[in-house]
Amino acid sequence: MKLARIKTILIAGAGTMGQQTALLCALNDYDVVIYDISDEILAGGMERIRKNASRMTGFDLCTQEAADKALSRISTFSDLATAAGNADLVIESVPEDPAIKGRLFHDINDCCNPHTIFTTNTSSLVPSMFAEETGRPEKLCALHFHDVALSKIVDVMPHPGTSTETVEIVRQFAEDLGQIPIVLTRENNGYIFNNMLMSFLGSALSLAAKEVAPIEEIDRSWMGVMHTPVGPFGIMDSIGIDTSWKVTDYWARQRDDPQAKANAAFLKTYMDKGRLGIKTGQGFYTYPDPAFARPDFMAPQKNR
Ligand SMILES: NC(=O)c1ccc[n+]([C@@H]2O[C@H](COP(=O)([O-])OP(=O)(O)OC[C@H]3O[C@@H](n4cnc5c(N)ncnc54)[C@H](O)[C@@H]3O)[C@@H](O)[C@H]2O)c1
Repeated sequence: MKLARIKTILIAGAGTMGQQTALLCALNDYDVVIYDISDEILAGGMERIRKNASRMTGFDLCTQEAADKALSRISTFSDLATAAGNADLVIESVPEDPAIKGRLFHDINDCCNPHTIFTTNTSSLVPSMFAEETGRPEKLCALHFHDVALSKIVDVMPHPGTSTETVEIVRQFAEDLGQIPIVLTRENNGYIFNNMLMSFLGSALSLAAKEVAPIEEIDRSWMGVMHTPVGPFGIMDSIGIDTSWKVTDYWARQRDDPQAKANAAFLKTYMDKGRLGIKTGQGFYTYPDPAFARPDFMAPQKNR
């Protein structure tokens, strides 16, 4: 199969990553169909995509004409058979739960073309966990994006049953989107960057859960030494506290790790208050003007 055959992309899940990847594909001349479980969620997702597009034109990252053309390429359906019927490649961005992903791929397999390639945007799982449920394990590969506005690094990761043809077409697709694919030779939880990131965020969470210091001080410490614009808790706000919780909770239970369980419980206190991060306007910080982004956050105390 050639890259030229890939024309229509099915984005499964209209949340944070679905919105970002839908716009990226549409800006690169792919037809995009977004599927989610309700029309209401799809409408909210489209609203965020329009806002993201207008932010890009505001920062001169694309012209108004290109943004309008991209938006006109995106359609939404809450009926899976209609959404998947024409798809050449699927980018799955549904919650970080192997059962949900497996069930969805099983259902997509029933209503899409035989040539359709399946990719998963999972952050911390591996495709072999649901490869058999896809009904086409040789056509399943991970294609993992980071925050598209911040990074062009994408992970392309086969499972032991992925064909070399699938890896190659997914790599070419990522390049066609203007991204920098990092092709892994074998499955690894968290790919490369996320593997390092999970240790980093886990360490920050355990400092907060053990009340060693407030979250602002933990972020300030990292930002001040590493000269980064954001610390671990600001990062979790952008990932989504619910997504961070899902990953932390899943691995805490898998590994029966008491500290990781305490970290998950700490995240859950924010989730229970509806504080999910940037997407709800409140997480560890309040948006759109989070304290860590203000000039005085890193100023010496006597100048604050
Ligand atoms: N948020 C990030 O920074 C980030 C980065 C890279 C990868 N990921 C991964 O991408 C995936 C999605 O994360 P997200 O942050 O976009 O989550 P999200 O919670 O923002 O969005 C998930 C969407 O999936 C929808 N959904 C739930 N069940 C569904 C189903 N059966 N069929 C179709 N849609 C369904 C939900 O309604 C929701 O709109 C996860 O696997 C996550 O690990 C997230």
